Amino acid sequence: MTDPLRIRPRRLRSTPAMRRLVAQTRLHPAELILPMFVREGATAPTPIGSMPGVNQHSIDSLKRAAVEAAEAGIGGVMLFGIPEKKDAVGSGATDPNGILNLATTALIDEVGDALVVQTDLCLDEFTDHGHCGVLDEHGRVDNDASLLRYRDMALAQAAAGSHLLGLSGMMDGQVAAVRETLDANGFTDTAILGYAAKYASAFYGPFREAVDSSLVGDRRTYQLDTGNRREGLREVALDVEEGADVVMVKPAMSFLDVLADAAAVSPVPVWAYQVSGEYAMIEAAAANGWIDRRRAVEESVLSIRRAGAEAILTYWAVELAGWLR
Ligand code: PBG
Repeated sequence: MTDPLRIRPRRLRSTPAMRRLVAQTRLHPAELILPMFVREGATAPTPIGSMPGVNQHSIDSLKRAAVEAAEAGIGGVMLFGIPEKKDAVGSGATDPNGILNLATTALIDEVGDALVVQTDLCLDEFTDHGHCGVLDEHGRVDNDASLLRYRDMALAQAAAGSHLLGLSGMMDGQVAAVRETLDANGFTDTAILGYAAKYASAFYGPFREAVDSSLVGDRRTYQLDTGNRREGLREVALDVEEGADVVMVKPAMSFLDVLADAAAVSPVPVWAYQVSGEYAMIEAAAANGWIDRRRAVEESVLSIRRAGAEAILTYWAVELAGWLR
């Protein structure tokens, strides 16, 4: 037997230059996407308590923040709207003068050449019951009736100029329905991001504050059970078949196995969403002095990249891009 110590993996870790040279995963600002919140009627940004550093924007402050994001060289922004009034069908989502649609046009004018401006296509911010779809007479989320609303919402967002629609509602057939409506109306270049494997996670908690959600209960009849790995792949395959241009796994850090599975087989790009609870956990621990904030942020995003995400939605996108330059 040869001397086992002839093999010394530590050689490649010996200096910063050596470690940099042999790094197997790198992050680049272009693959980071910033989720942003815009609130109807707001005249100034409002901080979100459970997401320190993240704001609900006015249209003006949204534009300024998007310019900063473009200057940081990130890949895009994902917009969420918070309407003044909510109702059972989420009327604000399909109103061309609804907050999300107005903000989209404003951002396209401001930074549309530098950033991919993306919009959340889901009803939950706009419904008074807080669900991602409309309800039937028994109070259950009605899949097929919700698809009709998604078709109209897709048209409103495409007309507002959105480059890429983020279908996050987890209704069956949503990608096919939206693609069909977009194509029939001439929006053949509007891209679709299917939130293919979106799990019914506890880590969306702070987001519910961010969008003033009125949800009572949970989304377990439409979002995936957190223990189901194979089902995640099934959803990815379905979204690809229905015409998704990009697929997503969400949340990121507690579903890295699903992400790696998807990355291994998907013919289209696979993205991941580092969600509000993932952000809040690190911010809270760092604020307590329990972890090194910058290292934890970098490691968390790098781990998502390593698992196979080609782009990552993260609330740290702009700050992280600054560190990377
Ligand atoms: C639904 C949507 C949610 C998130 C993004 N899109 C909430 C949910 O499904 O309950 C969560 C994002 C986050 O937690 O950061 N429109």
